[in-house]
Amino acid sequence: MSSNNLNHLLGIKGLSKEQIDLIFSTADNFLDLLQAPVKKTPALRDITVANLFFENSTRTRVSFELAEKRLGADIVNFSSSSSSVSKGETLIDTVNNILSMKVDMIVMRHPAPGASQFLSKHVKCQIINAGDGTHEHPTQALLDAFSMRNHYKNNLSGKKVVIVGDIKHSRVALSNIYCLQLLGAEVMVCGPATLIPKYIESTGVKVSTNLDNALRWADVANMLRIQMERQDERYFPSIREYSTLYGLNMERMKNVNPELLIMHPGPINRGVEISSDVADSHNSIILQQVENGVAIRMAVLFLLAQKSL
Ligand code: CP
Repeated sequence: MSSNNLNHLLGIKGLSKEQIDLIFSTADNFLDLLQAPVKKTPALRDITVANLFFENSTRTRVSFELAEKRLGADIVNFSSSSSSVSKGETLIDTVNNILSMKVDMIVMRHPAPGASQFLSKHVKCQIINAGDGTHEHPTQALLDAFSMRNHYKNNLSGKKVVIVGDIKHSRVALSNIYCLQLLGAEVMVCGPATLIPKYIESTGVKVSTNLDNALRWADVANMLRIQMERQDERYFPSIREYSTLYGLNMERMKNVNPELLIMHPGPINRGVEISSDVADSHNSIILQQVENGVAIRMAVLFLLAQKSL
């Protein structure tokens, strides 16, 4: 690993299977710590992390903040809506001003694809991508794969995962595809043809526009929401029609493998891509994904700070 150490986590693309395995084995230890009465370790006590969120977030922001606190880091939170970004300050100026206050690491969510990569070339600081537009969301893919791997007793080889919904606007889909394929899983994407980008087949995934067929093929269904905030045109006639064709409900569950594992990165639009009874059913590991997210983010922060990733 030492010949290829990472200074940043910008995406899953570029990571090796060995590096993902190291993140997972480190997260296993942090998962144990998080079950203990004292959930903290001083591993990052000399590190200051700035969480820069230029786009809304609930899970990722809270999860990173908790992970940093559990590791004993000093943290500062920044949200673009209450900052001088609205006065015209550039991304590089904003970040360099924050860094001049002696910050070691930046966790950034930004609406522009490639924003973390761009920043990594212009500032002297370690950067973790917490979601960049429609491009990548590496820690989400890591926590998704970690949750599947724990469910299947450490082995994702040959597992069939269908990612359903708005593939075109999803950073979760692309990062999941890269991550799952590295770990030996087979991946299918399913959704309306208008929401499946043409380039996706070049990643080696299967493509389906028929949810019932896709679900019969799958061991795992990762349901994505429609990203209305990124859509500049209409991709399907109505939410009602989308839900009829691509919503996962109990009626559909009657015709699939009874052990089908249900996942969702959140936020859920209940009654659109997934019904409440399926989201809350025993097949669903949606809240376990969120729980595992803290351990995965602790592992990423820890390994980057040690320069051992
Ligand atoms: N899964 C995810 O990224 O959720 P948030 O947008 O709430 O962070």
